[in-house]
Amino acid sequence: MSPQVARIREEFPVLDREVNGEPLTYLDNAATTHTPREVYEVFEEFYAGYNANVHRGIHELSHEASLAYEDAHDRVAEFVGASGGREEMIFTRNTTESINLVAHGLALPEFGPGDVIVTTEMEHHASLVTWQQVAKRTGAELRFVRLTDDGHVDVAHAKSLIDDDVALVSVPHVSNVLGAITPVRTFADLAHDAGAVLVVDGAQSAPTRPVDVEAMGADFFAFSGHKMAGPTGIGGLYGRKELLEGMEPFLYGGEMIQHVTFDRSTWNGLPWKFEAGTPPIAEGIALAAAVEYLDDLGMEWVRDHENRLAQYALERLSERDDVETYGPGPGEERTGLVSFNVDGVHGHDLSSILNGRGIAVRAGDHCTQPLHDRLDVPGSVRASFYVYNTTEEIDRLLDAIDDAEVKVDAHLQDRYADRLYDHHRDPQNTGGLADPSLVKSSEETTCGDDGEFHVDVAPDGTIETVGFESESCAVSRAVASLISEYLQGRTVEEAAEMEGEVAAMLDGQFPELRRECVVGPEEVIREAARDHLAAEPAAEDTISSP
Ligand SMILES: Cc1ncc(COP(=O)(O)O)c(C=O)c1O
Repeated sequence: MSPQVARIREEFPVLDREVNGEPLTYLDNAATTHTPREVYEVFEEFYAGYNANVHRGIHELSHEASLAYEDAHDRVAEFVGASGGREEMIFTRNTTESINLVAHGLALPEFGPGDVIVTTEMEHHASLVTWQQVAKRTGAELRFVRLTDDGHVDVAHAKSLIDDDVALVSVPHVSNVLGAITPVRTFADLAHDAGAVLVVDGAQSAPTRPVDVEAMGADFFAFSGHKMAGPTGIGGLYGRKELLEGMEPFLYGGEMIQHVTFDRSTWNGLPWKFEAGTPPIAEGIALAAAVEYLDDLGMEWVRDHENRLAQYALERLSERDDVETYGPGPGEERTGLVSFNVDGVHGHDLSSILNGRGIAVRAGDHCTQPLHDRLDVPGSVRASFYVYNTTEEIDRLLDAIDDAEVKVDAHLQDRYADRLYDHHRDPQNTGGLADPSLVKSSEETTCGDDGEFHVDVAPDGTIETVGFESESCAVSRAVASLISEYLQGRTVEEAAEMEGEVAAMLDGQFPELRRECVVGPEEVIREAARDHLAAEPAAEDTISSP
């Protein structure tokens, strides 16, 4: 470990804790980073020193809080290269809210049929779902820029999609799954030539590399404090001043108004027009402390450190025959994250094994379900690094994924009821049925599950056969097998009333951390049975899965 990283780690006391008797190895930074002492101490300083509402009181505490909160806007604006200062920096709760602000303030009031929104196949749901809703409500068309097979956004395809009908282009600066960096300037030029605005999702770039919103040509740039050494509950939206001035407020109420009569109201100046109600004052001041902290480290250093760790992990993972990685290959710059799958091991099972060794990673679809569909995998495991991570920690990860399949087997044997382990070793009723009366496919995909229950029901309502197909975790698969056996010969009414049967069959012997994997299939079949009962007797149904 370099002396610099050793010094950095001292600022993050949480890194000293143990998890399951092992030193914490926190590799889930793309979800949320940890917060250094000098940032979280802002809360004590604020609440012990000058807690008061802003812009409301003619008293000393309110004055101090207002100044600190206003200055925080300037400081964060400077961090992302916004020369307009606070007028171009709106504090929101997070990236999601920032993107929604653009949707509500600009797109929903102005877009209509004939307008086009262009975004990419690697969008986080924060962006994808928002633009989907805007398209639905306004009649605008939504187009997706393809990815190349090596995990880059396909610029040639973007050029073919962005024409004069396009009103808004939205891209992630960095993909939260692929780690790839989008050539944002190119997208800005394409958008502006078409007369469109460019929205940049900076959730993964603001924390990890120098950002200059003006140089990149962004009209809007959204980011979250909790991913960049700051607290939760605070994020930012940079917006070009002329655009913000012409936009509708997102939320209405106090603080965002200038003058109110019974008939009408006028709006406050920027950025307050977009910050209705009492804002997250301490959080905003702490966000400024976080960017101060990052600037002290130097964002070039942060970028290089991230890339070094990513390359180290990627090279070693790529050497393994049983591992598939996603995104640009070794040697190409990326931020500090690597998503991968180990053959035959579901991400949930792998992250359970890793958790047993104190290693925190994220497994699932990482809020990018369509991207995982594009990659043709139900989910992935993501190891993501930050300023305090080391190559030694990556070695610990690599060591823990050796022989993962064997470890999952041993884990199930040690930690779960024998009955579940038996179904894991010898699953019953696998495979679909030819003409089932009832089918329910997996809707519970946030953990990267994918499966389907098939049920044959006799005319008297007795369940004759249950089959299932599943790419879910080992626990859910074993539970699906257990349920398939349990239900045969019972009635659809009994299936519709299942509540806690699986936990009871396992005598409660499973790790609480995996409760969802245990109860999930039961919920699916219960819902399927309820739908079946509610439908016409002969109707087929579609529900969620093992
Ligand atoms: C690329 C990207 N966009 C948006 C978000 C949403 O961030 P938040 O949940 O803080 O709103 C995330 C979070 O993971 C992300 O990685």
